[in-house]
Amino acid sequence: MTRPKIIVTRKLPEPVETRLKSLFTVAFNPSDEPFSREKLTKAMAMADGLLCTLGDNIDEAMLSIGAARKTKILANFGVGVNHIDLDTAEDIGVVVTNTPGVLDDATADLAMALILASTRRMYMHESRLRRGDWTGFDLTSGLGCSLRGKTLGVVGMGRIGTALAQRAHFGFGMNVVYFNRSKVLVPSIPNARAARSLDEVMADADVVSLHIPGSVTNRYLIDADKLSLMKSTAHLVNTARGDVIDEVALIEALQYGGIAGAGLDVFEHEPQVPAALLALDNVTLLPHIGSATLETRIAMGMCAVDNLVAFFADQPPPHQVV
Ligand code: DGY
Repeated sequence: MTRPKIIVTRKLPEPVETRLKSLFTVAFNPSDEPFSREKLTKAMAMADGLLCTLGDNIDEAMLSIGAARKTKILANFGVGVNHIDLDTAEDIGVVVTNTPGVLDDATADLAMALILASTRRMYMHESRLRRGDWTGFDLTSGLGCSLRGKTLGVVGMGRIGTALAQRAHFGFGMNVVYFNRSKVLVPSIPNARAARSLDEVMADADVVSLHIPGSVTNRYLIDADKLSLMKSTAHLVNTARGDVIDEVALIEALQYGGIAGAGLDVFEHEPQVPAALLALDNVTLLPHIGSATLETRIAMGMCAVDNLVAFFADQPPPHQVV
């Protein structure tokens, strides 16, 4: 029996490539250069399945190439699939899978790191030190704020939001308020309070952390109005998707003291980061590394391979999105 052909759009952790090679006929991307639109379209004409990821923007036109398209499954490496036109994929019967669950701890860890970085003003202090502007220990300049007894507002109380809330409550003594569109059970955190609205979370929290998927509905969910509800001493953290925040409005809030600080791992037009954000010292900026630990990336890759294995064995993939 001939093995299904898989095209892999980016370099993968070595154990994942080894497993893939043992199961399929695979074309890897050792240079790791992102595929152009043309190359992605060509790949869909050549491969039975694509192992793709964030940055591989697969739109309606690319999917709708009729008989020229051979690809029947897009196995996404990552949980967010907002770079794929899911409606079209579903209409034409292309299966899309993702890799949830295995990156919750890594992403929650990074959100916690951003909360600490922002509330303790780490970027400002470190850059001052690196510039040679540190004149010695003192008692009053550049003070941050403590977390114990403060309120963490979680927007999107799914797996990652819950993992962060646990860290913040049990590790740092924070109270938790959260907003989730659907009703969720949060039995694991004492006194975690479900807010009646997003506005309530924005107004009540000392730190707001975003854990909602990128989607048309969530685009600019955090806009100038929502930012204006936040306390001027509050911090905003985003490890979800860049376009859930109106970046221009956030820059204004950071420039004019509308909020105290922010920690961002994601941006609206990655890898571009607005110059106005780069110029601010009350924001910590990271290059989308929420899931970037070796263990997590191997687990994500194995999860993507599990989806391919099930699909080509005519079984339901464990993590099918459409
Ligand atoms: C995810 O899994 O969605 C991460 O953001 C990496 O794409």
